[in-house]
Amino acid sequence: MAVLPICKLPDPVLRQQAQEVTEINGKLQGLIDDMAETMYAAPGLGLAANQVGQLHRLIVFDVSHKEGGPRKPRVVLNPCITAREGEIVHEEGCLSVVDFAAEVRRHARVVVKGQDRQGKPIEITGEGLLAVVLQHEIDHLNGILFIDHISRLKRGLYLRRLKKQAAAR
Ligand code: NI
Repeated sequence: MAVLPICKLPDPVLRQQAQEVTEINGKLQGLIDDMAETMYAAPGLGLAANQVGQLHRLIVFDVSHKEGGPRKPRVVLNPCITAREGEIVHEEGCLSVVDFAAEVRRHARVVVKGQDRQGKPIEITGEGLLAVVLQHEIDHLNGILFIDHISRLKRGLYLRRLKKQAAAR
């Protein structure tokens, strides 16, 4: 297993649509394991394939992991939100959006359907933090970042700061 480099804004891969996973092979299993390793190393609660430059509809997450504790990474291929309700406001950050966090309003409960790493159909009901992470990671597969859910003013300030930092380097 390997820790992969994480793509960061303004990398265009973060703005692209990931493609449906249709073939489950050794290469895909390796990518899943590497993505989990990368998520724990970061550390982060979840990771979408776009973030490691792979345009596959694939997310990994583990919202209950504590440093040094047991790892139980979960994987969903071709995740799709089939039911949503309620509202939650949570401060989000992202491994691809450096040095920034902001409150985002999302659904408090979601049902996600997809496949596990063997291709077997699965359904996950997420509430609270899990609901937030599922929505955040599925957004990535559609080229959407959490900063797209905040005010244009806040987003503009952040993007200008990012540009300035890049110019100063
Ligand atoms: Ni993210």
